[in-house]
Order: sequence, then structure tokens, then C-alpha cells
Amino acid sequence: MGLSSRIEAAMGRAIEGAQGGPGRLSSALDYAVNPGGARIRPTILLSVAMACGDDKPEVSDAAAVALELMHCASLVHDDLPCFDDADLRRGKPALHRAYSEPLAVLTGDSLIIRAFEVLAQQAATAPDRALGLIAHLSHRSGMPNGICAGQGWESEEKIDLSAYHMAKTGALFVAATQMGALAAGQDAEPWEELGARIGEAFQVADDLRDALCDEETLGKPAGQDDLHGRPNAVRQFGVQGAVQRLDDILSGAIASIPSCPGEAALAQMVRAYADRIVPAAAREVRTVPGE
Ligand code: IPE
Ligand code: IPE
Ligand code: MG
Ligand code: MG
Repeated sequence: MGLSSRIEAAMGRAIEGAQGGPGRLSSALDYAVNPGGARIRPTILLSVAMACGDDKPEVSDAAAVALELMHCASLVHDDLPCFDDADLRRGKPALHRAYSEPLAVLTGDSLIIRAFEVLAQQAATAPDRALGLIAHLSHRSGMPNGICAGQGWESEEKIDLSAYHMAKTGALFVAATQMGALAAGQDAEPWEELGARIGEAFQVADDLRDALCDEETLGKPAGQDDLHGRPNAVRQFGVQGAVQRLDDILSGAIASIPSCPGEAALAQMVRAYADRIVPAAAREVRTVPGE
């Protein structure tokens, strides 16, 4: 089974297991998760788990699902009027527009709780790994270093830019590499740098997309960084500088891959990812000679 089918099958099982309560909330859970976006975090997580041997695939699947559920929950909450007030997500109406604000709050909450439940279910087969994964996902999602912290920085008078980016976006990429290692029974520590670098590259690519692409291409509102006056890589370095920075970060990411049986395949995955995340408009800038 390819990685993408593996992820979709595991996500399907996780959402299926949460069905059966109030009908509109059940439907909203499915709406928040399917169809998915790029599924980049679970793809990285499973790629690392496979590079480390993937000796308990059901634990790796649970880790991948928990991480993606947390990500989907963060998007539902992020689009609410009290945060970014965004009407569009993944090319369709944001969940609070399709269902209502109370259901969007509850959907985010339910997905977060489901994420931990999916991990807890692995305690019967691999208690140490399940516990390690729960602790890690908590650390990368809450305060003081996780997504909650990242969103919290937007309510401060003065933003610590690197702490903001690291917590808002980087944390779940570090979770992707480290939870992949943990799911395969390996030490998480050597995998932190790879996750941090991929997360940093993702943030730069996201800034480029926000500045260069339109709403139709993005499937969500464009030009948000300028609109909300947020610091971003394009404003800081210009388009060309940001593309150069992205290339540098990803070269560093490949160099940081810890030695493991699947090292070469993982490097290949990062290269393919690098090609995919640079928006076409920025790729044109990249190929203009002399600029
Ligand atoms: C969007 O993440 C949110 C940010 C952290 C900027 P993705 O671009 O990975 O979203 P999906 O899951 O593919 O829609
Ligand atoms: C969303 O960040 C990140 C989280 C929900 C943690 P943004 O607000 O910058 O991302 P988009 O543009 O809505 O996807
Ligand atoms: Mg936001
Ligand atoms: Mg947003």
C-alpha cells in the first residue's frame, strides 16, 4: 500500500470510530478531515518511521493519524472569526461557515481529544511507545512551545518572530519526525533538527504562496500576511531571497538526516517535497538568469 492510501485508510478508521453521536457534529468531524489537504505531516511521520524500520505499523498509523487530527483541529479553530475569520479552507467553505461557530469549536475540540484517544488505544500493544507519543504530541500542541503558544503570540503586543513561527508551524513538523522515530521504537532526539528544518522551509514556502498565489490556487484566502500585518519571509528577504533561503534550509535538512537504514529514501522524500512546496510563480523567479 502506498503512503497516501495508508494515511487515508487510517484516517478513515479514526473518524469512523468517532461517529454515532449528534448527527451534525459527526458530519462536521468528517468535513474537517476529508478530503484532506497535502497530508504532509503524516507523510513525513510515516517516512521517518519506515526509515527506522516500522516494526509496529499499527503504532505508526496511530501516530500519523493523531498528528493529522491535531493539525486539522488547529485549522478549524484558526479559521473562526475570533482568530483569522477565514471563509475558505481547502477550496470549500470554512467549517464554521458550513456548520456554525459552536459546531466549529466542538469539532476542533473533538478532533484534539480523538487524537489522544487514538494514541491511548495503542497502550495495549506498545504501552511505552503510546505514552511517549502522547507526551510528545502534548508538548508540541500546547503551551509553552506548541500550537497554542503559536496562536497565542498573535495576541501579544510584541511578537518574538522565531518563537512564533517555531510554535505555530514548526512544532508539528518536529512532532512529525520525532513521533515517526518514537513509533518505530527509536530515540526521538536525533530527529529534532530534521523536523525543525522542514518546518522552517514550510513556513517560508507558505509565506511565498500567501504573497504570490491567488485564492483559487490556494483554496484559502491569499494575501493574509499583509492584511494582518504579520511578519513574513517575503517582506523580509524579497521573493528571490525567500526562494534562496528555502533551498538553503532544505539542503541543510537533507544533511541533518540521522544515519538509519532508510536514510537514502528519506533524503529522496525531502527532495521531492522541496520541489512540491515552491509555488510555480516563485519557481519562475528562481530560473530567471542574473537575478
Ligand atoms: C496550513 O497547513 C497551515 C499552516 C501551518 C500554515 P497545510 O498547508 O499543511 O494545510 P493542509 O493540511 O495541506 O490543508
Ligand atoms: C495556521 O496558521 C496555523 C495553525 C492553525 C497553528 P495561518 O493562519 O498562518 O495559516 P492559514 O493561512 O490559515 O492556513
Ligand atoms: Mg492564523
Ligand atoms: Mg489562518
